[in-house]
Amino acid sequence: MAQQQLDEVRAVIWEKGRLRLLDQRLLPLQQTYIVCSDAAAVAAAIRDMVVRGAPAIGVAAGYGVAMAVVARYAAAPAGDWRQALEADLTLLAESRPTAVNLFWAIERMRTLLETINGDPCAVAEAEACRIDAEDVAANRHMGKLGAALIEQRCAVMTHCNAGALATAGYGTALGVIRAAHAAGKVSQVYADETRPWLQGSRLTAWELLHDGIAVTLLADGAGAHLMKQGEVKWLIVGSDRIAANGDVANKIGTYHAAISARYHGVKLMVVAPTSTIDMSLATGEQIPIEARAEDELLSFGGQRVAAEGARAWNPVFDVTPAELVDAIVTERGVVLQPDTAKMAALMAG
Ligand code: MRU
Repeated sequence: MAQQQLDEVRAVIWEKGRLRLLDQRLLPLQQTYIVCSDAAAVAAAIRDMVVRGAPAIGVAAGYGVAMAVVARYAAAPAGDWRQALEADLTLLAESRPTAVNLFWAIERMRTLLETINGDPCAVAEAEACRIDAEDVAANRHMGKLGAALIEQRCAVMTHCNAGALATAGYGTALGVIRAAHAAGKVSQVYADETRPWLQGSRLTAWELLHDGIAVTLLADGAGAHLMKQGEVKWLIVGSDRIAANGDVANKIGTYHAAISARYHGVKLMVVAPTSTIDMSLATGEQIPIEARAEDELLSFGGQRVAAEGARAWNPVFDVTPAELVDAIVTERGVVLQPDTAKMAALMAG
């Protein structure tokens, strides 16, 4: 991949009938795209973390549906291609459980396809492209809204990767950091390394450095000690699913960081498009939390590092209660101190 402006990094690229995905398992050492030509390949890429980050997963799934529509309609142009398509939608929906953007994108495609008479292929492709373009636009808008909340020049901290790599472009939390940095409001960016997949040290650091934004990494357990120094004023993160009361699911370790932030007077900003908000769940208690293989913790780089016989508990998301959240920034506006009524008002608007 040629060197690009950082906010031009694209993890998900649609190329007339096939999808190119930047293999995020290999970053930052290799910048390699894999090509997906059907929904099964997209589902596998989501499951195996080639593409990750809630909005990027949703965008990829939209294109997966578009490719499935072409295949199913070619096989049964006069027959019931819609019924055959259900197998593809199920396959995509089963790829990962926590990021609601996946299910949101599938449902958006399904709802549109229900209205189509005749050839659905061009309509499906156009809708997937719209999901993609809307995500970039939302991120740019949220970047401005979030940056406006940062009143004084300060250090900020982030967790995981909620950047261009995790979205269709520009990023959610990193979109705010990009915008605030451009406005001269950011003195330093601290990023948790984010064990065990190292989205912080591999992906966030790579993105920010390509954008000319200095970044300092810290071990996940070092956050409280950093916040105690007083330099960090905002913890800025993305989300995989936000419940109707404002509880926020995000990468494991976010809850831990949020508790430390409240204790030390650091504010917590959650940046996410409304496609991440799940109004069907009253609280975060109902959000399904993905558990991944024990080996992700017991080994490193394919080499076992834990004592033989040790077991591992590996939930990869946690839920931060709304009471610890100072602001949820969406493309529809900002919700301060979120609760059920404020979230309902945002979504009704
Ligand atoms: O397991 P991942 O890498 O898909 O987890 C990603 C996160 O937790 C992100 O913070 C979240 O999806 C928001 S991305 C804009």
